[in-house]
Amino acid sequence: MKRLAIALACGTMLAGCQTMGQTAPEVAAAPAPARVDAGEQQIADLLSRMSLERKVAQLVMPDIGSITPEDVERYRFGTILNGGNSGPYGDDLAPAEDWLKLADEYWDASVKPLPDGEPAIPVLWGTDAVHGHSNVIGATIFPHNVGLGATRDPDLIRLIGAATATEIEVTGIEWTFAPTVAVARDDRWGRTYESYSEDPGLVAQMGAAMIEGLQGSPGAEDFLGYGRVAATAKHFFGDGGTEQGVDQGDVNGDLDELMAIHAAPYPVAIEAGVSSIMASFNSINGTKMHGNGPLLTGELRGNLGFDGLVVGDWNGHGQIEGCTNSDCRQALLAGLDVYMVPEEWKPLYENLLAQVRDGTIPMERLDEAVGRVLRLKQQLGMFDGEVRPSERPNAGRWDKLGFAPHRAVAREAVAKSLVLLKNNGVLPIREGANIVVAGSAANNIPQQAGGWSITWQGGGDLTEAQFPNATSIVDGIREVASQSKVNVAYASDTASVPRAPVDLAIVVFGEQPYAEFVGDRKDMVFRDERGLELLREYKAKGIPTVAVFLSGRPLWMNREINAADAFV
Ligand code: GLC
Repeated sequence: MKRLAIALACGTMLAGCQTMGQTAPEVAAAPAPARVDAGEQQIADLLSRMSLERKVAQLVMPDIGSITPEDVERYRFGTILNGGNSGPYGDDLAPAEDWLKLADEYWDASVKPLPDGEPAIPVLWGTDAVHGHSNVIGATIFPHNVGLGATRDPDLIRLIGAATATEIEVTGIEWTFAPTVAVARDDRWGRTYESYSEDPGLVAQMGAAMIEGLQGSPGAEDFLGYGRVAATAKHFFGDGGTEQGVDQGDVNGDLDELMAIHAAPYPVAIEAGVSSIMASFNSINGTKMHGNGPLLTGELRGNLGFDGLVVGDWNGHGQIEGCTNSDCRQALLAGLDVYMVPEEWKPLYENLLAQVRDGTIPMERLDEAVGRVLRLKQQLGMFDGEVRPSERPNAGRWDKLGFAPHRAVAREAVAKSLVLLKNNGVLPIREGANIVVAGSAANNIPQQAGGWSITWQGGGDLTEAQFPNATSIVDGIREVASQSKVNVAYASDTASVPRAPVDLAIVVFGEQPYAEFVGDRKDMVFRDERGLELLREYKAKGIPTVAVFLSGRPLWMNREINAADAFV
C-alpha cells in the first residue's frame, strides 16, 4: 500500500507542475504508475492490515482430526485439510451432512470479527477428491487415474472433473488435492494407479483436462466459481521416478532428463490455470523437494512461471535435513507457501512466528506466501460477500451426490478404461447365453473402488453399505444381461456350475486396495492364485472363461492370461 501511495502522489505532483505554468525541472518523466489492478490492491490492503500472527497462521494447514472450530477462531489458520483417514467429528464414515455442518462451523469461526479493523480471512478446506469426492459416503466414485489414462478421452476427463467439483461443493469444501500428474515409471510404486500413464504426454493431456473440469477454464465466467473448485497438480516433482518405485524415495539422474519426463505435465497444468501445486516427498539427486529452492523457486517459479500456491505434503517439510515437523523455516525459504502439518501445527506456528520476528524469515517472503493464499481465496470469490459453505448453490443438494448423470459418466469411464489383452472369440457374449460369474472381486464394491475410497487405504472393513450409490461387477453384468436375454448365475468364490449347461464363466479377481507406500512391492508377481485356480477349474470342466482382473497397475499375469480364453 505504501508503494502505491508514493506512485500516485508523484503522478499528481508532476501533473500539478505542468498546470501551474512553471517549467517543470528537467526530470525523466516518471513512468505512469503501473496499472495496479483492483485485485492486487485488495491483496496489498489486506496484507497491510493483518497482524503478524494472523499472517503466519495463513501458512499453517492442520488436519481436521487435530483442531476444533475454536482453534480456528483463535489462530485463524489459512487452510485446513481432511487427510485420507480424517472425517468430521472424528468419524471417517460420517454422513455427507456432517461434512457440510463442519464446513460451516470452521467458516463461521474464521470470519468472526477481529479487533482494530484487522480483516477476518475465511478459511479454505482442502480434500483428496482423487477419483470423485471419494472420502464422502454417497459420492460418485470414478476409476482411478491409471484407468482414466487408458480411456485416452480428455473430454470425458473434463466431465469427471466437473462432476467431482459439483459433489465437493455439496459438502461445503472448495479445494481438492488433485489431479496427481505423476509419470509412474516403476510399477512397484504403490501410487502407480494415481498416475494416468508412464507416458509424459498422456499424463500432461489428462492432467490438464482434469484441472479444466475441476476449475473451469481461465477467463470463463465460472472459473473457480460455483460448481467449480481449486485444483492441485501434484507432486512436484519426480514422485513417479523413485529408485525401485519406493514411495517418497530418491530420484537420481540428469536433471534435464528427469524434468523431461516427470515435470512434463506441469507447463500444461499451469497453462490450464491450476491454482496450486503440491511439493513432492521424494528427493532429487539427494535433496528433498520440500527444501529444494533451485527447483521449488528457481524452476517452478522462474522457468515454468507458476505464480499460484505451493502447498506441502503431509509433514513433507519434516523430512528436510535439519527440519522437524514443528520447526522448519527452510521449507518457506525454499519456496513452500503452506505447511501441511496435520498434528504439530501449534509448535510450528510458534516457531514460524518467532523466526519472522528474529528476521530469519524475511517479511517479504512471508508476505509473498500469504499473498498467494489470499489470492487463491480472492479467485474463489471468498472476499466477494463471503458466502457460507451451506449457502452456495450446490451445498446440501444431497441428490447431487451420486447424481445419475455423474454415475452415467462413471460408467462410461469404467467401460473405456477396460483393457482387453486377449480374446479367443468368446467375447462378445452371444444373446441367450448361460453364463456364470465367479471370483472374490465379483461382488465386492470396496475392492473394485480401490484405495482413497471412504478411508485412506480403502477396502478393509468397508462394506457396500458405505457405497450406497455404487454397483458391484456382478450386478452390473446382471443389469446388462437382462437386456440381452443372457442368463447369469453367481458362483461366489467357487467354480460351481448351475444345473443348466454353462456357455461361459466370468472370473473376477484382483489386488486388494492400498494407498501410497502401503502399496509398494518388491516385484510384479501377483501371488493370490485363487483366480488362477478358478480359471483352471472351469477350463477343466470344458467351460470357456473370461478373466476380469482388477489392478492398480500392470502385473506379471502370464499364467492367468494363458489359463483364460479372454482377459480384461
Ligand atoms: C498424502 C499424499 C498426498 C495427499 C496428502 C493429504 O500423504 O501424499 O497426495 O494429498 O497426504 O492427504
